[in-house]
Amino acid sequence: MTAPSAAPHTPRSLAEGQDCVAIVDFGSQFTQLIARRVREHGVFCRIHPCSAPLDEIVGDRSHLKGVILSGGPRSVYEEGAPVLDRRLLELGVPVLGICYGLQATVRALGGAVEPGSGGGEYGRTELHASDLPGAPERSVVWMSHGDRTTRLPDGFRTLASSEGCPFAAVEGFDGRFLGLQFHPEVTHTEHGSSMLERFLRDRCGAAATWEMGSFLEHAIERVREQVGEARVICGLSGGVDSSTLAVLLQRALGERLTCVFVDNGLLRAGEADEVVSTFGGHFGVDLRAIDASTQFLGRLAGVTDPEQKRRIIGKTFIDVFAEQARTIDDARFLAQGTLYPDVIESVAAHGGPTSTIKTHHNVGGLPKDLQFELVEPFRELFKDEVRALGRLLGLPESIVARHPFPGPGLAVRVLGEVNAERLAVVREADLIFRDELTKSGWMARTSQAFCVLLPVRSVGVMGDGRSYESVLALRSVDTSDFMTADWSRLPHDFLARVSNRIINEVPGINRVVYDVSSKPPATIEWE
Ligand code: XMP
Repeated sequence: MTAPSAAPHTPRSLAEGQDCVAIVDFGSQFTQLIARRVREHGVFCRIHPCSAPLDEIVGDRSHLKGVILSGGPRSVYEEGAPVLDRRLLELGVPVLGICYGLQATVRALGGAVEPGSGGGEYGRTELHASDLPGAPERSVVWMSHGDRTTRLPDGFRTLASSEGCPFAAVEGFDGRFLGLQFHPEVTHTEHGSSMLERFLRDRCGAAATWEMGSFLEHAIERVREQVGEARVICGLSGGVDSSTLAVLLQRALGERLTCVFVDNGLLRAGEADEVVSTFGGHFGVDLRAIDASTQFLGRLAGVTDPEQKRRIIGKTFIDVFAEQARTIDDARFLAQGTLYPDVIESVAAHGGPTSTIKTHHNVGGLPKDLQFELVEPFRELFKDEVRALGRLLGLPESIVARHPFPGPGLAVRVLGEVNAERLAVVREADLIFRDELTKSGWMARTSQAFCVLLPVRSVGVMGDGRSYESVLALRSVDTSDFMTADWSRLPHDFLARVSNRIINEVPGINRVVYDVSSKPPATIEWE
């Protein structure tokens, strides 16, 4: 349940003396990966669109230790392509330019970039390094560029080259600029992690001080400062983000927190009980569990269009939540588990044309008349950082390591009409699938796994008779960011066991299929 977010990039996460690196995004699909790598080395960083004003990119200059210029999809010599603001090089902090970031710098300083002969270099490439910190003499790096630098600006020198790229790594601007034509942030670049680490430690002098223990203390202080003596409402779904948020707020505010859990009738088996017993019992959170299943299922009756289902669910959540909020005294604040990728993506979406694939119900907005101020302690965290925080706060592994579950719940896993009967079928099958995944250890090795009830029936033979029942699809994917995904290579024996159990134990299913589509072109959920 996400209300419109406050202005992005408000510098709230930095504790006194915390080092920061600014990442300038030229539109690369790997920009978030750069940020995650930097943080894995214990250095806090923020991503800014390349169109952001300089003072926003710099932020509080006393924290800034370095700048990283990302790659990008354009050619630097194309009309309208983003150009480098030269002042970034003159800030007095080291700058790392990756791919487009290197080429934009070369162009800004009077060098030349041209289309690569033979169509560029893509994929694994052998790098010959003469003097590149973190890289051995020979190693494999990952290239993805059509253009290449053909003349370096004055005073630049070469640190590494590849067969198709004489200037694969360069240094210039009095040693303050390091440029890499390849991508150190992807795992295919063998020594990419140590190259980034050497840049952060040796060139920037950035200390490894970004860790969840100190973030937690700082976050608790900030929440107390923001909220004062008022009450906070927190929508709790039982997922990793809202659960971690609830426990953090409980620590910060004690009894001035009220959590609202909405049972929309679209949850998996046992989910409502689990949330109530975990939070009401163990963590002692003041929890209101609202059974709104009749309202949700009533409004969904007869609806088959996926987008219409999503819109109805989003709107009903808001109605139920608003109704509850009005009965809680002095609740001026609403807490949400908004994550950094949501913030970055909403900024990126305003900067260019993006097509809506699915209307994610929790990226909507609460009605203005609710009059809440938002509390969003995770606005600058990635999901893996929230998981680390959850563990630190003592949340059980069953919650912290949970697969994501979409806001619209089983409604997008029951294709066609959603009703109590069809929900019961998918719920029962899902329980079996999850049970087998847990018992076999596959649950922890896949990123998300679930069942989908299809709106088709097929003929089968059960006992001596003909059956004409529904088809159920199993979906399991491996992914790190949920933006791209591959289907999990679950063992045949395992699939056979799950299929057998579902067909035998779940009335109404006589055929089970396994989804072997990657994303893209498919999506993870079917609707
Ligand atoms: P897709 O199906 O778009 O899903 O490949 C990517 C990830 O997002 C989850 N998902 C949602 N999560 N509200 C959510 O909170 C939604 O409306 C929603 N739709 C999809 C999906 O389960 C997967 O993890």
